Amino acid sequence: MRTTGDAPVTVRRLSAPNDFRAQLAADVAAGMRATPKQIPSRYFYDAVGSALFEEITRLPEYYLTRAETEILADRASEIMRLVEPDELVELGSGSSTKTRLLIEAMRTTGGSRYVPIDISEAALREAAVALCSDYTWLEVEGLVGDFHTDLRLLRRRGRRLLAFLGSTIGNYPPAGRAELLTTIAATLDDGDALLLGVDLVKDVPTMVAAYDDTAGVTARFTKNVLDVVNRELDADFPTDEFTHVPRWNAEQSRMEAWLRADRDMDVHIRALDMTVPIAAGEEIHTEVSCKFTREGITAELGAVGLGPVAWYTDRAERFGLVVARPR
Ligand code: TRP
Repeated sequence: MRTTGDAPVTVRRLSAPNDFRAQLAADVAAGMRATPKQIPSRYFYDAVGSALFEEITRLPEYYLTRAETEILADRASEIMRLVEPDELVELGSGSSTKTRLLIEAMRTTGGSRYVPIDISEAALREAAVALCSDYTWLEVEGLVGDFHTDLRLLRRRGRRLLAFLGSTIGNYPPAGRAELLTTIAATLDDGDALLLGVDLVKDVPTMVAAYDDTAGVTARFTKNVLDVVNRELDADFPTDEFTHVPRWNAEQSRMEAWLRADRDMDVHIRALDMTVPIAAGEEIHTEVSCKFTREGITAELGAVGLGPVAWYTDRAERFGLVVARPR
């Protein structure tokens, strides 16, 4: 088995690591002064949070991963014949599980390079080593980085297919989405393509259940962000005295995750020298997960100069995969 020490697996940082704790401190300081209070969802993904998310992807209620995998299993070859990429770049690659379907299909059309980009170095390294040992023909260049700031540092090696799966695009509100899609579009030349996974608007109970599983994994996942703040900023949020509240926001077509305080409390955030009074019933906003329509996402892509060339859904039409190209 090859290791990261041997070619062709490399894992490197795209840019200097930004200070995680300083960024968290600034975001929590601002978020605790905001109305309603908020903690940004990127802090969910420490080691515990990443493992809980992998557990979420296997929950019976969480249809997103299964629906997207179904599409990839059916369509990966077709997508590769359409684009014929030399390299597959993936944003927020995590464990790269679904990506195996794309990598295997890419081989049949001559592509041989996989470039996963993730904020978590541990997840990236583990995925890169496993892929390289399973696919000896594959060159893997893992990039640790923040794809908002670091995408422009990517080196090009032939025709590119850029995959952004899991409806992670939905975790950005519209303005953030436009900004990120603009950055993505700037990394695509003529002939390149974006493969984007989007969760589709559907009946409300199905969507709510995906964020409120009966086993309580999602509640543990969202409350874990309080443990992250407690650990990193020497705070004392009583994690067990918050309730996970998932809510459908019809106006904005999105699921929202809130943490509701079960009682009045004073939370001390020692690293910020801050005491935060929180009233019983008060809610802290953590996450949005926007749900899309085919027309809506086509318009958003069009606004950044990308034109859809293929559109696929799973058989139950819960999830969409779009292939788009610079126009
Ligand atoms: N990208 C995932 C999604 O939007 C992230 C996620 C899954 C999530 N379950 C969650 C975020 C629960 C917050 C709360 O579906």
